[in-house]
Amino acid sequence: MKVLVVGGGAREHALAGKLARSPRVTEVLVAPGNAGTAEVATNLPIAAGDLDALVRAAREHAVGLVVVGPEAPLVAGLVDALEAAGVPTFGPSASAARLEGSKGFAKDFMARHGIPTAAYRVFDDAAQAAAWVRELDRPMVVKADGLAAGKGVVVAATVDETLAALDSILLAREHGDAGARVVVEERLEGPEISFHVVCDGVRTVPLAAAQDHKRLRDGDRGPNTGGMGAYSPPPMVDAALERAILERVVEPTLRGMAAEGAPFRGVLFVGLMLVGGEPRVLEYNVRFGDPETSVLMARLDGDILPLLLGAARGDLGGVEVRWGAPAALSVVVASEGYPGACPEGRAIEGLARAAALDGVTVYHAGTRREGERVIASGGRVLCVTARGESVPDAAARAYAAVDAITLEGAQHRRDIGWQAR
Ligand SMILES: Nc1ncnc2c1ncn2[C@@H]1O[C@H](COP(=O)(O)OP(=O)(O)O)[C@@H](O)[C@H]1O
Ligand SMILES: [Mg+2]
Repeated sequence: MKVLVVGGGAREHALAGKLARSPRVTEVLVAPGNAGTAEVATNLPIAAGDLDALVRAAREHAVGLVVVGPEAPLVAGLVDALEAAGVPTFGPSASAARLEGSKGFAKDFMARHGIPTAAYRVFDDAAQAAAWVRELDRPMVVKADGLAAGKGVVVAATVDETLAALDSILLAREHGDAGARVVVEERLEGPEISFHVVCDGVRTVPLAAAQDHKRLRDGDRGPNTGGMGAYSPPPMVDAALERAILERVVEPTLRGMAAEGAPFRGVLFVGLMLVGGEPRVLEYNVRFGDPETSVLMARLDGDILPLLLGAARGDLGGVEVRWGAPAALSVVVASEGYPGACPEGRAIEGLARAAALDGVTVYHAGTRREGERVIASGGRVLCVTARGESVPDAAARAYAAVDAITLEGAQHRRDIGWQAR
């Protein structure tokens, strides 16, 4: 079977790499991919947002499965379009993707189904929102309703900062129409973890908990990014907590979506804060996390096709996952200037030396091949990943690989996994 992976980051490299090793997969295509995916698959020069061209390519190449990486095409209805064209697709329908595409929808959904989350209100009127915040007289969290590439949330430290966030999102439209509505919610405190569960609408196959590091610099300082590294498993998640997440969050979410006529198929990636040890949902994502996918794929053994195809076909019956490594950790290497504007075209050296180290896989994100050279072409460039017997072991291996790579001006964190080291 041919499989098409949509997207061009480390997440898609990790998925394409796993799929390429499936005995039932004859060819992997990636649209648009990067220099890393080109080593395990065939890149197609189609943007992840070009829905018509993706549907055409899936039919032309007679692919038996499409796996959609990023959220924007899911929210825009790529899965609906592919299924209408008869192509089995891993990912939720546009209607189910509202769990990520509208934070207001997600909060109201959680309220309807008794799923634990922060207290909130939704506003489209700045004056009404500001009046509520003044009345509460507490700093709040302000979230643009729609997709904002991870930049639409302000965790305010003061009432004034809360009011300023309302102004910039609702009035100045900093995130365009994604900020036509906002969720204003209570600030929670506690460690953050994420949990990935593959779903077929009814059944679930839980993957593993992971922890991402959003801030640019060591010690969780500096600006927010798309994610500077991740590891799995986080030490604060034990079997009892995993059960609680499944029973109190995942199962009611699936039942609720099915009951509302939008059964969820694909991967549900729940962002959680542990408040007094109890899970509360910060957000839903309706696709694999990046960089979390790199550590999940590194830990996973065996054929991934039955998992993705089972979810796409609505039948995960009998599908199980096998964890080959007790732990994995990945370190993102980013360009100079990230998360702001970045220079393009700088050569990356040492990739082969790093990849030859035991347990290491170097997943590419913003890279391109130029003749013999691999050059940086984006903010996040590489996601250097290692399996290990424990998180400290995986960290030692991943950092040895990072140290083998050179890219002028590159930035990375030295403390990924600090809560487990
Ligand atoms: N209610 C909350 N209390 C405290 N921090 C929060 C809250 N909601 C979100 N955050 C912080 O803001 C970050 C981004 O919020 P999230 O809802 O995950 O949106 P997105 O990933 O779409 O930007 C979270 O990872 C978390 O650190
Ligand atoms: Mg988030």
